[in-house]
Amino acid sequence: MTQNKVLLVGSGGREDAVARQLVKSGAAVYSAIKNRNPSIMSLSEEYLVCDETDFNSILDFALEKGVDLAFVGPDPVLETPLVENLRSSGIPVASPDRKAAMIETSKEFMRSLMTRYNIPGNIPSWVFTSARDLSSFLIKSGKQYAIKPIGLTGGKGVRVMGDQIGTTEEAIRYGTEIIGRDGKVLLEERSVGEEFSLQVFTDGTHVAPMPIVQDFKRAYENDTGPNTGGMGSISGPDGLPFIRKSTVEKALDILVKIVNALRNDGRPFTGILYGQFMETVNGPVVIEINSRFADPESMNVLSLMKTDICDIFFGIADQKLNRDAEFEKKATVLKYVVPRGYGTKPEGGMLTVERKLLPDNLRLYYAAVSGTLERVEMSTSRSLAMVGIADTIPEASDVVEDNLHIIKGNYFVRHDIGSRDMIEKKMANRIL
Ligand code: AMP
Ligand code: GLY
Repeated sequence: MTQNKVLLVGSGGREDAVARQLVKSGAAVYSAIKNRNPSIMSLSEEYLVCDETDFNSILDFALEKGVDLAFVGPDPVLETPLVENLRSSGIPVASPDRKAAMIETSKEFMRSLMTRYNIPGNIPSWVFTSARDLSSFLIKSGKQYAIKPIGLTGGKGVRVMGDQIGTTEEAIRYGTEIIGRDGKVLLEERSVGEEFSLQVFTDGTHVAPMPIVQDFKRAYENDTGPNTGGMGSISGPDGLPFIRKSTVEKALDILVKIVNALRNDGRPFTGILYGQFMETVNGPVVIEINSRFADPESMNVLSLMKTDICDIFFGIADQKLNRDAEFEKKATVLKYVVPRGYGTKPEGGMLTVERKLLPDNLRLYYAAVSGTLERVEMSTSRSLAMVGIADTIPEASDVVEDNLHIIKGNYFVRHDIGSRDMIEKKMANRIL
């Protein structure tokens, strides 16, 4: 059998995890990266360092290297014509085109699709184009809302009343700022509950689920501080112990309905769809739908994936995904090593990694860094993801904590993610 050549776009920890699975499946990786990620570079046959949204250069690179398949990691790339252009050049792609990716790139579209197709789990939402209307709505209602830009925010644009926003005046000010910049703003009723992410592979018809994961977006311990792209994430051997199985089944049904709705809307979705849900007494509500692997949650599941990723990707791209994916039944805890000040004023700096000390039950993924595998240059974004693998979530957290000494430098980690204390509190508060 000849070796598959696969184009991989993206240079974060998520794409490092994809690259490792591709290499494990025997593929030759050709990567398009914006930072000189030392791990992705070492796994690639060849790489192109470029702006990841430079779709013309990436298409030229793919054609020149004669790739057999392409996969796109980051959301901003899914807003460019790259996927359509690769397809029209005859290259199968395991990612959605722009029309399908709108489920993520426009939160207004996502809410209206759910309304039009009567999909359960929707949250009441309103779009405002006028600051005056927004202001009188908020003053009259007296309820709490999540205030969101319509488009991509890199995980940092959403502010929730009662969380990052203290008063109605502040909510009006933030909403008005978004209208001034984007012309409109989305308001959603505030939901309260435990969040979880469910990622699925889909070819537009068949839906193959991955284990659920919980992501920790807040910058500091005990879920305080500003929202970030994600500071860490946890998964259990059989779901998450504090989320009901029936809730997960309903969440999967919601994703199946969204896949069907997109197909009926003339936007067949081929790629990875990921729902961010919140568990309420009535089951799951949809906080957000994304058209790609989650970061960091993808690294939890990819660290456990047994099925050949090339088979899955070709199944997606050729719209013949007639199988599910298999995962080891283990717990994982991921903690991101980030520069000090990440979330407000990140400092950057150097890290050293003593790779020979890395045990078998720990995966180390390289994110927004450059340098070498042993001497890592941090940027202002997340640096290294450590994923501990064990039978229970607290044990997987211990795997990371016991091995933090492998990484030296001036960095910050949220130690509370996956700890016994955290899981006990969640178990005590769970919905029965
Ligand atoms: P997003 O960028 O949409 O994923 O939102 C970031 C975070 O804001 C989510 O993980 C939630 O914790 C919170 N959030 C977003 N929408 C809502 C909502 N409607 N109700 C409560 N919290 C929300
Ligand atoms: N886990 C957050 C995101 O990937 O958007």
